[in-house]
Amino acid sequence: MSYAIVGFGKIGQALAHAFARKNIKVAVASRRPPEALAPQARAIGPTVVAKSLRDALEADTIILAVPFGEHREVAKALPSWKGKTVIDAMNAFPVPEELDGLPSSAFVAKSFTGAKFVKGFNHLIAATLATDPVVEGGHRVVFLSSDDEDAIAPVADLAKQLGFAPVKLGKLNEGGALVHARGRTWGQLIFQDLFKKEQ
Ligand SMILES: NC(=O)c1ccc[n+]([C@@H]2O[C@H](COP(=O)([O-])OP(=O)(O)OC[C@H]3O[C@@H](n4cnc5c(N)ncnc54)[C@H](OP(=O)(O)O)[C@@H]3O)[C@@H](O)[C@H]2O)c1
Repeated sequence: MSYAIVGFGKIGQALAHAFARKNIKVAVASRRPPEALAPQARAIGPTVVAKSLRDALEADTIILAVPFGEHREVAKALPSWKGKTVIDAMNAFPVPEELDGLPSSAFVAKSFTGAKFVKGFNHLIAATLATDPVVEGGHRVVFLSSDDEDAIAPVADLAKQLGFAPVKLGKLNEGGALVHARGRTWGQLIFQDLFKKEQ
């Protein structure tokens, strides 16, 4: 599997730390050229490689860590999303446009037709997400939800490789509602920094 993080701000860098900690290669990209991101990428670790958006989108699995309203711009950068896994780490904050009555991730998924689409890594503040998820024999929980049951397993594997304990919540409008944030309306699990003990 190959991985990319689109958006190299607070959440993008927090996730880049998670990849670097485990020596897993990850491309990082934003609207700025790779040269502009490279010093920060290198500072996080040698497996974090700054790329152009176009080159980063060659990865199989792409994490969205851009401001909510920018997802459409990212979606437009590829003619087809078929075969890709997209992980939505965004929250619909501050209050954006109407979401057609959909959970924010279902709304975003409409722009990524054909992709396997999973909501995850969105419920913690960036400073927490950036820290080592393995603490005293426990693993920091990340919540995964998707309308496509098959899409979750590879993302859960990635989360485990990164040292997190993935917890599957089911569909976006069911368990996913617990990690849904829109404006000042936050699901009950948003900001809940939970740990799972080793079995
Ligand atoms: N901050 C948190 O604690 C937190 C927690 C949970 C979830 N989130 C969610 O995570 C997302 C990112 O938040 P953040 O706090 O990391 O924001 P941020 O610090 O402002 O970073 C946003 C990043 O997105 C890039 N970007 C913006 N438009 C882009 C585009 N069209 N194509 C490619 N890259 C683009 C920006 O870089 P350029 O300007 O160089 O393009 C920047 O690197 C948001 O949806 C937010 O709701 C944030």
